[in-house]
Amino acid sequence: MRKRIAVCPGSFDPVTYGHRDIIRRASEIFDEVIVLVSVNHSKNPSFSVTERIDMIKAVTDDLDNIEIDSFNGLLADYVKKREAVAIVKGLRAVSDFEYEFQQALANKKLYDGAETVFLTTKPENMFISSSVVKQIAQLGGDITDFVPGKVKDIIVERFSKRPL
Ligand code: PNS
Repeated sequence: MRKRIAVCPGSFDPVTYGHRDIIRRASEIFDEVIVLVSVNHSKNPSFSVTERIDMIKAVTDDLDNIEIDSFNGLLADYVKKREAVAIVKGLRAVSDFEYEFQQALANKKLYDGAETVFLTTKPENMFISSSVVKQIAQLGGDITDFVPGKVKDIIVERFSKRPL
């Protein structure tokens, strides 16, 4: 039987505990999960694509059905090319919903062969976002509860040298 592949797209700038939890749970549902570092045209990233990929690799090295890739194009085209059956996104709060709902509808219109699947965040990760992590790091706060230990020092180091 054909492998059921899911794509988990995002900016991952940087990867957080919230991302890692969604990736892990998706890896339990699907045969293979492609974590896709994608370009969000309304954001200006702080980490290069290579740096983001390396950080995701570090925090998912215990999962054996994960592939990490990057793509600078339409998500729907990538999903079609890889014959994925689902796009997995995490939902933190009602405030995420309107944007995610619009993206899901647009992606479905562009490529009908995959479903967007929303996983609700763990309550303890509800307040975590990459931009909150960057703000705290830039202002010298403690990001221990926000990002996995394996990437914490890289993030702290980046913002101690370069402002947001
Ligand atoms: O982590 P983010 O920034 O919320 O992720 C958003 C992302 C990168 C998944 C979204 O911007 C995206 O899919 N970008 C790829 C370009 C694309 O297909 N845009 C139209 C989607 S309808």
